[in-house]
Amino acid sequence: MSKRILTILGATGKQGGSVVNSILGDAAASSKFSVRAVTRDVTKDSAKALAAKGAEVVSADLDDKNSLREAFKGAHGVFGRRQAVCPGKNIADACKEENGQHLVWSSLLNVNKLTNGVLSQVHHFDSKAAVEEYIRELSIPASFFLPGFYMSNIPGQNLRVGPDGKWQFAMPMPEDAPIPLFAAERDTGKFVKAMFLKREEVLGKRVYGATGYITPLEILDAFKKVYPAAGKDVAFQRLPNEAFKGILASMGLPEPIQEEMLQNMRLVYEFGYYGGEKLDWSKSLVDEPLTTWEEYIKGHPAFAAAQ
Ligand SMILES: NC(=O)c1ccc[n+]([C@@H]2O[C@H](COP(=O)([O-])OP(=O)(O)OC[C@H]3O[C@@H](n4cnc5c(N)ncnc54)[C@H](OP(=O)(O)O)[C@@H]3O)[C@@H](O)[C@H]2O)c1
Repeated sequence: MSKRILTILGATGKQGGSVVNSILGDAAASSKFSVRAVTRDVTKDSAKALAAKGAEVVSADLDDKNSLREAFKGAHGVFGRRQAVCPGKNIADACKEENGQHLVWSSLLNVNKLTNGVLSQVHHFDSKAAVEEYIRELSIPASFFLPGFYMSNIPGQNLRVGPDGKWQFAMPMPEDAPIPLFAAERDTGKFVKAMFLKREEVLGKRVYGATGYITPLEILDAFKKVYPAAGKDVAFQRLPNEAFKGILASMGLPEPIQEEMLQNMRLVYEFGYYGGEKLDWSKSLVDEPLTTWEEYIKGHPAFAAAQ
């Protein structure tokens, strides 16, 4: 039987790149599927690296539906991600027109709806949820992958050496906030590969992509364990909301984005990043170990000075 084609969007990025690696690196998946990796620039090094691994690399732009249709021609499945609603709908429309049999959409919750309008500014979540709703309306055979809070957000940002030369760890949330931590660049593919292989089991469902819920205190404990000298005197600091917005302002981010990011953080402890959903079923789909925070920080370049 000839292999079924999976078209992977954002293939040179964290999520898409991980999906390509997982499928091509897995005997069961690569005997069933071939990978068509999409980039806007097939000549760049990261695109050439995908070709060297065995992917067919094609050019398409999410803003151009015809180029997407071309990239989806003959494909069985599509992995799609995109922030804005419009290109997201392009992906759904092109998938429907090309009769795709399994769209895995990288989604997030509709926070405005979940919180009854209390957190109405988390547009980068709501826009992905709007595309999920559109995909459901079109009755495309689809499943929904919801990436957790990226581990990569923390090293060098929340956890770093301060101006006084000492390590510090600050986040705008309580010390016991349940953060669904996720190593996107390593683990997206573990989930998405499983979703393509277990199509019947996941169609119409949401899969929550995270290693586990972990609190700021546990994040710090792992840092102290891996880097005992650097972690010796570090205490967790809860950043006041206005101080958090002030930091974003000093980075040049406009007020609406500061508020959006703050509400994103409030979501984690006021309503739950996934609205309180458990991770057990999602994790049961995956047949290889997920990256723990402790593993993630070992040898991380942002912690080179902590050795
Ligand atoms: N940070 C977090 O905690 C977190 C948590 C959950 C979800 N997310 C979401 O994750 C998403 C980012 O995903 P990622 O980490 O995989 O991003 P990424 O590493 O920045 O990759 C972006 C990819 O998108 C492709 N791309 C961008 N514009 C394109 C266009 N017009 N047409 C075709 N391809 C295009 C780029 O490919 P080429 O340049 O090669 O074309 C690149 O491969 C964001 O939407 C964010 O909201 C983040």
